[in-house]
Amino acid sequence: MTSPQCCINPSILSADFVSLRTELERIGNADAVHVDVMDNHFVPNLTLGLPVVQRIQQVSPIPVDAHLMIADADRWAPAYADAGLASVTFHVEAATAPIKLARELRARGAKAGMALRPATAVEPYLDMLPELDMLLIMTVEPGFGGQSFLDIMLPKIRRTRALIERHGLQMWLQVDGGVSAETIERCAEAGADVFVAGSAVYGADDPAAAVKALREQAASACAH
Ligand code: DX5
Ligand code: ZN
Repeated sequence: MTSPQCCINPSILSADFVSLRTELERIGNADAVHVDVMDNHFVPNLTLGLPVVQRIQQVSPIPVDAHLMIADADRWAPAYADAGLASVTFHVEAATAPIKLARELRARGAKAGMALRPATAVEPYLDMLPELDMLLIMTVEPGFGGQSFLDIMLPKIRRTRALIERHGLQMWLQVDGGVSAETIERCAEAGADVFVAGSAVYGADDPAAAVKALREQAASACAH
């Protein structure tokens, strides 16, 4: 069943890292802040790690949604749940025991999310979907903000939404990468209900206005 509301989760990857607290306040009307953790192993980029995420959790006016683009997720992800984050998303390609890990995240009080790189199919994971609160379909190769949206991910979003409906699952379907005023409606029509936007929000003169506009676009497209 479709979740009642579309969520806009801006990514602070495109924010000013020296002024994170102010940057968080600029998106106070968003549903959650999306924090991209990269380790220069799973992806060829390096951002921030647990100590910074713990501080973000302490000062953020809105829930924190961590996206872990890190190797050996089984080992490192549980500590992010311990930090009190609303949701922790690991990449299935970086996890050895994704079912065990999802259960651990939930047991530590976080919503459990699992991300799929563009070339990773959802179908092999059908049986474990009930273990998850959120599935993240990457619409760019993970690693960098500001990339072009991959249109060829739309059928995968559609198929995943159909699987969620068919099995009566209660879970969010998040899209991340190249989501903007130009692409968000297509994502919503295909069945996504949580939208990560980095450059489209922090590249705008007024990030809060960009959040509001994206939410309205998504909501009208979801309703179709
Ligand atoms: C990319 C990150 C995204 C990124 C999105 O690997 O996971 O969250 O910040 O940035 P935009 O919206 O600019 O594509
Ligand atoms: Zn992300």
